[in-house]
Amino acid sequence: MAIDSNPDWWRDAAVYQIYPRSFADANGDGIGDLPGIVSKVPYLAALGVDAVWLSPFYPSALADGGYDVDDYRDVDPRIGTLAQFDQMVAALHEAGIRVIIDIVPNHSGSGHAWFQEALASPPGSAARARYIFRDGSGPDRSVPPSDWQAAFGGSAWGPVGDGQFYLHMFDPAQPDWNWDNPEVRAEFVDILRFWADRGVDGFRVDVANALAKDLSADPLPSAEEIALVPAGPDHPLYDRDEVHDIYAEWRAVFNSYDPPRAAVAEAWTDDPARRARYAQPDGLGQAFNFDLLWAAFDAAEFRRVIERDLALARASGSSSTWVLSNHDVIRHASRYGLELPAELEDRRALGRGWLLAGGRAPVEDIDSGLRRARAATATIMALPGSVYLYQGEELGLREVADLPDAVRQDPLFRRSPGYDVGRDGARVPLPWTAAGPSFGFGVGSAHLPQPAWFGQVAADVQAGDPESTLNLYRRALAARRSLLTRPDVRSAALEWLDSPPGSLHFRRGPWHCLVNFSAVADLELPSGEVVLWSLGSLGNGRLAPATTAWVVG
Ligand code: GLC
Ligand code: CA
Repeated sequence: MAIDSNPDWWRDAAVYQIYPRSFADANGDGIGDLPGIVSKVPYLAALGVDAVWLSPFYPSALADGGYDVDDYRDVDPRIGTLAQFDQMVAALHEAGIRVIIDIVPNHSGSGHAWFQEALASPPGSAARARYIFRDGSGPDRSVPPSDWQAAFGGSAWGPVGDGQFYLHMFDPAQPDWNWDNPEVRAEFVDILRFWADRGVDGFRVDVANALAKDLSADPLPSAEEIALVPAGPDHPLYDRDEVHDIYAEWRAVFNSYDPPRAAVAEAWTDDPARRARYAQPDGLGQAFNFDLLWAAFDAAEFRRVIERDLALARASGSSSTWVLSNHDVIRHASRYGLELPAELEDRRALGRGWLLAGGRAPVEDIDSGLRRARAATATIMALPGSVYLYQGEELGLREVADLPDAVRQDPLFRRSPGYDVGRDGARVPLPWTAAGPSFGFGVGSAHLPQPAWFGQVAADVQAGDPESTLNLYRRALAARRSLLTRPDVRSAALEWLDSPPGSLHFRRGPWHCLVNFSAVADLELPSGEVVLWSLGSLGNGRLAPATTAWVVG
């Protein structure tokens, strides 16, 4: 089944995120690679995904797992070659699976030729103008230009040693590009064409809300001052209106291809309404909706997020995106198993650290976490829009919370000692087989240690068990794909039906989805054929707690 030419494929695609270093290692050096991905194309096809999104595979010092890109037009030699990239795209396309790649335009890696050139060039030079260099203050210019903190901790300004500093909103090895510079703009247009010409179907745009900056104030505002400014037109760094000029230019590039290339923004905006602007047809076209990451496993919270996002997507001419896990957050099988303080009303009050704090989680109820994760996944797969799945969630993997500090790689951990364990617990190489030195990930050891319990949840174990999470994903994706071909489903708007408190019931034409979030005694299924149970069946036409069912009536 090769891919078709449908320009709207992304609107309801099931997209599987591959974190290349941790997916499959074909040559046994401990790092996942492109031949490893090719070897798993049959697995991905059997899983039934429409597209894969590859996190960065570019040459990189791996200061931030590859989100520090040293060369935007090549493949890291540890991960593969450009020729292998072409082979991978061909193999995926042959299997009917589209390819989305990650573009990291807010910053490069510090090994990038242009950053090295900037360091070797004098203050005020054209080479420095591609990044954001500022004079230090104080008598010997040794004080950073402002007190801003980087996202991973520490000052956001790196000293050059000649009285200047460069801005890095993330790791010191991730210098921010200067998007006011026409050369930078032209370079990225060329990079997008480079990959689109190689047959890439879409782009995931990293930190899409941070490219446009206004650093004209002198002196720069303090961290305390900008903390009071909501992200938006008045904020010097985040979600400024001019950022959309950049994406309008990119959209023209995407639309010059047939079919047009798709794009999805990673934009952690505070105001969901502002997120919709990234998703407009004259912009990137789609934006991640991370709101379910903050929601408890709770009927009212889910319904609020779902209604709001469907309305926003409609208004922006886009389609919704549903995300429960990715490489930056605690895996949802663990998130749903955590005991959170009862008095906590808004999980955002805990900050993003809560999402990332897998290792410091006090209590984890493994059974309930997995049960809820399966129910939540079956819910988002029934919603209009696309779903983004993260490698390993189809195995029901939970966060590897007990990695020894010595093996952790994430700069978030290294730069915020004791504060945040970072994201490595969601990035442990996948278990493919119950046996073998790295559970089939490779023939040697893996770049992060895998826990013993990975053997019980390996893909080969689950493949043979009809009730496994892997087979739930396969069944759900197959049923979803076939239901989405039905005109009576496609033409139907989502409609809510009455259901007891603690449960949700919606339908799209004949396709009903019922979710029992709590121990509701009496949730009866409507008449029709039950095409999916997220976890077994009660056998009496009733829905067990923390279970989702699809019924076609
Ligand atoms: C995005 C990526 C994250 C990375 C950061 C800096 O949030 O998803 O992994 O650390 O950008 O590039
Ligand atoms: Ca390898």
